[in-house]
Amino acid sequence: MSENSKPTLLVTGASGHLGRRVVELLLAANTGTIVATTRSPEKLADLQQQGVIVRSADFNDPASLAQAFAGVDRLLLISTDALGEPGLRLKQHTSAVQAAAAAGVNHVVYTSLINPGPDSPVLFAPDHQGTEDALAASPLNFTVLRNNLYADLLVGALGQALPMGQMFSAAGDGRIAYVTREDCAQAAAAALAAPFNGRRILDITGPEALSQADVAAIGSKITGKPLTYVPVPTEAMIQGMVGAGLPQPVAATYASIDTAAAQGQFDVVSDAFEELTGRKATAVADFLTAVL
Ligand SMILES: NC(=O)c1ccc[n+]([C@@H]2O[C@H](COP(=O)([O-])OP(=O)(O)OC[C@H]3O[C@@H](n4cnc5c(N)ncnc54)[C@H](OP(=O)(O)O)[C@@H]3O)[C@@H](O)[C@H]2O)c1
Repeated sequence: MSENSKPTLLVTGASGHLGRRVVELLLAANTGTIVATTRSPEKLADLQQQGVIVRSADFNDPASLAQAFAGVDRLLLISTDALGEPGLRLKQHTSAVQAAAAAGVNHVVYTSLINPGPDSPVLFAPDHQGTEDALAASPLNFTVLRNNLYADLLVGALGQALPMGQMFSAAGDGRIAYVTREDCAQAAAAALAAPFNGRRILDITGPEALSQADVAAIGSKITGKPLTYVPVPTEAMIQGMVGAGLPQPVAATYASIDTAAAQGQFDVVSDAFEELTGRKATAVADFLTAVL
């Protein structure tokens, strides 16, 4: 604990969108000593000037983690974006879990995915399930935040779809309780700063589950442009993305998210966000109205 007996909080990946926002929220909430780790400390000079302790840490370099995590009470482990090399992301996360346990961290908050279990067709779901398993097998206490899909992903999707008047997806009639990245940051900051020190798994979702037809209707209403949802088979979706220049494995990964949506894997609405933050989660229509 730091001198005023507030716990010392650490955020990994603090130069990413989510990590930086969590650090900003912790600063605003005056939570006490904040440590921010990143592969790029130079990107956090502004946070350092506001009193954040910035340390270098790379999950690919386990030796860097012992020093980086020293003296920390509660640690937010932000899942990495290392989706290219099979097995790498889980190895990174496992190294971070092991280093947190070895450093004597009390509690780890982890950003997982809704329904990451063995039934998920999402190609990267095993990274999340594997990390949850590593936490369960460790001596650590933890809060797993199973984030639903970011509503922010819809900005790009609608940006492509609106000029064509058609929104293609292989999600069928599946519904998704999109959650904004801002709300994921608020949930993570709240879970990190909370006194809870047992083990829990929380679904972090938006307030309602929407079909792709609902999303198209919202996009159309906000912009005044016609937009129709066109369901397509998964293979056609993959070929369309490859034709547009995406590498096949990346296209297959995106399509696996659609497959999971079609199966209802993201059709989960939870009030855990409100319980953590005391606020209602942001509706997709409100989010898109502000950003489109
Ligand atoms: N639920 C969803 O829909 C959704 C969508 C997109 C992403 N995500 C997940 O949520 C995470 C955060 O989202 P974001 O929008 O903030 O992504 P982002 O801006 O792309 O950030 C990527 C994050 O990965 C970290 N990272 C990459 N390699 C690392 C390594 N070797 N060691 C330690 N950290 C490493 C980065 O940390 P530094 O650069 O600071 O080292 C950064 O925090 C993503 O990484 C991804 O796992 C979820």
